[in-house]
Amino acid sequence: MSTTSGSSPSEGAPGERRVVLVSNRGPVQYGREGGQRTTSRGAGGLVTALSGLGRHLDQGVWICAAMSDEDVAVAHESPNGVCPPELGDGDLRVRLVALDPGAQDAFYTVIANPLLWFVQHHLYDLMTAPNITRHETRAFESGYAAVNRHFADVVAEEVEAAGGDTIVPRPIVMVHDYHFYLLPELVRARCPQVFLHHFVHIPWPQPDSWRVLPPPMRDAVFRGMLGNDVVGFHTEHYARNFLLGCQELLGLPVDLSAMEVLVDGRVVRARWYPISIDPEAFETLARSPAVLGYEHELLARRRDHLILRVDRTDPSKNIVRGFLAFDLLLQDHPELAERITFLALLQPSRQDVAEYAAYMERIRHTVDEVNAKHGTSDWQPIELHLENNLDLAVAAYKQFDVLMVNAIFDGMNLVAKESIVVNERDGVLALSENTGAHEELGAFAVTLHPFDLQQQADALYDALTMPAAERRDRREACARVVRQNDVAKWLQAQLADIDRPAER
Ligand code: G6P
Repeated sequence: MSTTSGSSPSEGAPGERRVVLVSNRGPVQYGREGGQRTTSRGAGGLVTALSGLGRHLDQGVWICAAMSDEDVAVAHESPNGVCPPELGDGDLRVRLVALDPGAQDAFYTVIANPLLWFVQHHLYDLMTAPNITRHETRAFESGYAAVNRHFADVVAEEVEAAGGDTIVPRPIVMVHDYHFYLLPELVRARCPQVFLHHFVHIPWPQPDSWRVLPPPMRDAVFRGMLGNDVVGFHTEHYARNFLLGCQELLGLPVDLSAMEVLVDGRVVRARWYPISIDPEAFETLARSPAVLGYEHELLARRRDHLILRVDRTDPSKNIVRGFLAFDLLLQDHPELAERITFLALLQPSRQDVAEYAAYMERIRHTVDEVNAKHGTSDWQPIELHLENNLDLAVAAYKQFDVLMVNAIFDGMNLVAKESIVVNERDGVLALSENTGAHEELGAFAVTLHPFDLQQQADALYDALTMPAAERRDRREACARVVRQNDVAKWLQAQLADIDRPAER
């Protein structure tokens, strides 16, 4: 490729690649129970998608942050990483990085979540928030930037240990998500020849949204990202927004037909790859004894209709408005009383971030109100579970009539994809138009408008009362799309672009 970084060795077959993967949350989290070390799967869409990577990459290391106390213990015991059996038989090594606790807290609870997450999901009520004070400015430098520097050092160490950045095929560094916007520029300075590829799992908003951040912060974000060779998003819309930001905020020349930006004589490509799941893995899980056990329990107490939602307790998921729409549905259709359950399987998320703790309280409060208003001695309209239980979620995936995804904005939403491939009741997806998944599945879903409560209530009713043949056709079409665009295809498309030279 025609970059100023000099020679461009040809890349080898996927099996020969030395891949350094970087994400904040790793594939396994360690804990301790009754004196024994325990492992559990990391939460969220990123881990769901990347956990399948081990099967596709022969050699590699996944660098991630030690998040629990036990993770820190593992990081100290095995500074070069561990090969958790949960990730399959491949040689993917997981290297946990123990961070300075103060820096990690500022990085995670002040900058990454909420500031970047809220800007990118349009969650701020700008009349009242955010207030950027010395606290945030310091947290950006001593937290976000410091953690990015620490990870850049670890990446450079791994590249050097694998033979340096000039070996053939040249090493690939795949960076994930909004925690590491500054890292690519830092790695580029240390290892100019590596191929840097960054995938952003969340929406990338239009340039004006970034103006919420003061120029030093937003310029650092864009400059850092421009250290990459390829920047990947879920949708073309996000990729275009990124280039428009480079043009409008940094004044760089962009080519919107080639989807490239020129910076310091290098070409950076913006691409889109809709992330997906491993359908077979979910089908296998759906047959497991643990899932069958939960399914049995669900069937024993199910009523005529089951609405399901499965989410982290994240404000972007729009959980409270979903319950308010359900309240309207019950009000408009008294005939549904005692015949319907709204099962909400919610994983508590980011409870050390004030906004998230407050949102969890609002969820509980709204559930209590709706249940008190409509419930009877024999019927709780909303059944709320606050836990991380994948087996229970998959059992519910098999049995829902309608899956509600009414997110305010969501980069992709993998729950929609996971659930539709295992559903056994011709369940209907009720899907927010502001999810990445809507681009692929919207034609076969019932579309929800995240702020229009009455529209959501009416759409839920339409989905619940749709003729059986139409429900079947829609479910089959959605499942077909997910099977065709699976996670292997998502990865292959990225690897193919790594091999393809830039246009200029
Ligand atoms: C989303 C983000 C991931 C994040 C996950 C869980 O899927 O894109 O980067 O890991 O949420 O959030 P947490 O803060 O618990 O890692």
